[in-house]
Amino acid sequence: MMQKERVFLTRTLHEFALKELKKKYRVEIHSGKIPIPKKKLAEKIKNIEGLICFPYDKIDRDLIDGAKNLKVISTYSVGFDHIDIEYAKEKKIRVGYTPEVLTKATADLAFSLMLDVMRRVSEGDRIIRSGGWKEIYGAYDYVGTDLQGKTLGIFGLGRIGSALAKRAKSFDMKIIYHNRKKISKTKEKRLLVKYVSFEKLLTQSDVISIHVPHSKQTDQLFDNKVFRKMKKSSFLINTARGKIVNEDHLLRALKNKLIAGAGLDVFESEPIEKNHPLTKIENVTLAPHIGSSTKETRAKMAEITIKNLHLGISGRKPKFSVGY
Ligand code: DGY
Repeated sequence: MMQKERVFLTRTLHEFALKELKKKYRVEIHSGKIPIPKKKLAEKIKNIEGLICFPYDKIDRDLIDGAKNLKVISTYSVGFDHIDIEYAKEKKIRVGYTPEVLTKATADLAFSLMLDVMRRVSEGDRIIRSGGWKEIYGAYDYVGTDLQGKTLGIFGLGRIGSALAKRAKSFDMKIIYHNRKKISKTKEKRLLVKYVSFEKLLTQSDVISIHVPHSKQTDQLFDNKVFRKMKKSSFLINTARGKIVNEDHLLRALKNKLIAGAGLDVFESEPIEKNHPLTKIENVTLAPHIGSSTKETRAKMAEITIKNLHLGISGRKPKFSVGY
């Protein structure tokens, strides 16, 4: 009888997904420190045919070189900047990821962060919990900023950016966007969005929401220079990747009131600590990387992750595939 293929998971997944995997493969799940230490992953990857990983597992050249039998890397995320896609392609290793199913959940979160920081909801919650709400209903108390009539600048009008545009429209916002490539006129009309240069996106937006992948081109793109160009009354929302923003520069921009506030779901290094300087700033709403984190979406991501893995192990292209 043919031996079952081996699959390694760098962290556990939903029960239904594990059950499904165990029917077909010899499955091992990492259960120690998260992320799995590179040395341990290097040890495990040597003998397996399929790998299920998470967005913080760096799958680089060294690891791929040691993976002599590996046919597929299936990541439980839409982002794949943690995987050396080019090298995996060279080695004819399939890479699967989980777009589409998390589009709406992530757009919802970007929208929540925008609403929250502009209307100071979490800040108010912190004030009440620390006993700071002393007087009722003053004319200038805890005033926020209207969304209606404001310009939302979407940096990266792909799936998630477009879903955000739809949400913002129903709040009567104007929408401009910047992409490497303009979208079609028909789509622009349907979404009621206008293409602008990156420069104009910075200077005209009241809120900028980032929806591009992290890459060499976008690494630390939001720095001092960018913050100085943004309106002093504007907000920055990031649900994409922390490394797209220079966090030290953002901190300074917030402290020195170069911009009005920020809503952040992602950070340069995660998780951030209790005493991280961003936690000391009032005009920031922080979330623990929960863009796709709803029961429904996470279960769908698990379904796609194992589907991508099955296809890759059997020599076919994953349902959602990058590279080879
Ligand atoms: C992804 O899928 O890349 C997200 O960052 C996870 O929420």
